Amino acid sequence: MCGIIGYLGGKPAKNILIDGLKKLEYRGYDSAGICVLEKGGFIINKKVGPVASLEKALKQEKIEGVIGIAHTRWATHGVPSERNAHPHFDCQHEITVVHNGIIENYQALKKILIKEGHQFSSETDSEVLAHLIEKFYRGNLETAVSKALALIEGSYGLVALSVKENKLVAARRSSPLLLGIGKHETFIASDIPALLKYTKRVVYLKDGDLAIIDAKGYKIKNLNGQKMDRQVEDVKMSAAQIEKKGFKHFMLKEVFEQPQSLNNLLSGRVKDNKIKLSVKVGPKDFEKIIIVACGTSWHSALIGKYLIEEIARIPVEVDYASEFRYRQPLIKLTDLIIAISQSGETADTLAALREAEKQGAKTLGIVNVVGSTMTREVGSGIYLHAGPEIGVASTKAFSSQVGALLLFALYLKQEKHEKLDPRLLADLKRLPAIVEQTLKVDKEVKKIALKFKNTDHFLYLGRGLNFPVALEGALKLKEISYIHAEGYPAAEIKHGPIALIDEKMPVVFIATKNDLSEKIISNMQEVKARGGKIIAVVDQDYGYIAKLADYLIKVPVVNKLFSPIVNVIPLQLLAYHIADRKGLNVDKPRNLAKSVTVE
Ligand code: AGP
Repeated sequence: MCGIIGYLGGKPAKNILIDGLKKLEYRGYDSAGICVLEKGGFIINKKVGPVASLEKALKQEKIEGVIGIAHTRWATHGVPSERNAHPHFDCQHEITVVHNGIIENYQALKKILIKEGHQFSSETDSEVLAHLIEKFYRGNLETAVSKALALIEGSYGLVALSVKENKLVAARRSSPLLLGIGKHETFIASDIPALLKYTKRVVYLKDGDLAIIDAKGYKIKNLNGQKMDRQVEDVKMSAAQIEKKGFKHFMLKEVFEQPQSLNNLLSGRVKDNKIKLSVKVGPKDFEKIIIVACGTSWHSALIGKYLIEEIARIPVEVDYASEFRYRQPLIKLTDLIIAISQSGETADTLAALREAEKQGAKTLGIVNVVGSTMTREVGSGIYLHAGPEIGVASTKAFSSQVGALLLFALYLKQEKHEKLDPRLLADLKRLPAIVEQTLKVDKEVKKIALKFKNTDHFLYLGRGLNFPVALEGALKLKEISYIHAEGYPAAEIKHGPIALIDEKMPVVFIATKNDLSEKIISNMQEVKARGGKIIAVVDQDYGYIAKLADYLIKVPVVNKLFSPIVNVIPLQLLAYHIADRKGLNVDKPRNLAKSVTVE
């Protein structure tokens, strides 16, 4: 969950590295550091806080070196501090390393190195790498890195540099890394956005790869020194795609991008009254589905359970990936495991997937980030094509995940040779336009948000397909506004949460019309009777609800199966406007990072 950028070419590295770090800040932002090789020595700078602090500190520095590495950190081992910021060094400052991932056996290695006379200056696991590489260094960085990595347990995406050679050596195991191929220059980064300004030609490193970059270009080998062939691929994403496009925050831009992201998802997949998916599994290949995911992706998984069971009549279990991987799950050869992840790099979801694969189950990924680790490991998959999601709070990925699950449910029904309702498919094609219309609630929601910016608690209630929407609304609010919020199936309140209700408790009801509307109304009455403030998301026949609710948010009428995609929009906006009104850092909420690549 940290960001890496490295450069070797003909231009001064400093500005390229700083620029790359800014594009990677969404991966981690509690400290940042840079090291440039100049005149046979390292010029090192580290700063706590955002990349802007590092940039400011370096503004007046005339650094001409053309080789360098940089890192933006999200702390795992050791507090955010200059000492713990990367790049890390050996005692003589002859080797420097930036590292993403976790060195699991670092304590044992550190003990040995200290006995051998190495002095450590940070509390991080990553520093062990610099000392180990120095220990094995005999004039060849490539050999020293390979020898060091042979002793490492854990995950890494790393780049190393020696004062004695004009080269960069990078290696990957379970933490993403890719090369950017320019004209007489090579870049290395943990994510595409860092490179896009300079090149669109990239090489994705695979687990076990070692890349050696020098003035002549790059070579890729494995840790035994065998040459590996890796394709150069063209990135389709444009630099403009990752700008804010005039919105105050990435999150708001991404909420408003949902008509487009849903359009991307559906394009070419609903055609001639058929669902076209290039997945390698069909209903004959499995008896049960288990979906694993974390956070927001887990909420979309819960909606997926409702959709697949209702539409395709196939049983679905949903599990937190972090629980699944450690509870010795009962996986059968007749199970299909679906992993859902925006980033495709979430450590727990990857581990759950690997466990399922180890036990012989079929796998399917629902992933946004093209070329991510998950997409390379999974049996087959459905890409969301939602475009880069930079705001830490996931928004457009969620609606596209739900959309992808809906497509998959319909696909399974179709492959069971059951007829799909052509009206439903026509409505599905109109979904992006309906979402566009739904976004008009923004003004109203903003007004409501103003009233609640000083609230300490929120409850979100929904039923059926909209129960996970309640969970998602609550998660959005807590992660960006730091207001305590909980989501429940509405009927559950009388089993406990109702005790919390008084005039200080706002309760958001997702009350669009469905078979359970009557029941939701009686839950509303229970809240009203106890003085709770009601915010209701409604679509049609809401006359009686209007009498009970303090605030109404009207969304368009849609087929019940699409309602989570529409209903989540006011909740995303409510969380956004409350957080913005509170003056909080919406895109980079405290203690959170965009992709959680460690446990
Ligand atoms: C959502 O707003 C979160 N920040 C978080 O819960 C996220 O959904 C979770 O970490 C899973 O990420 P993934 O989809 O990239 O696997």
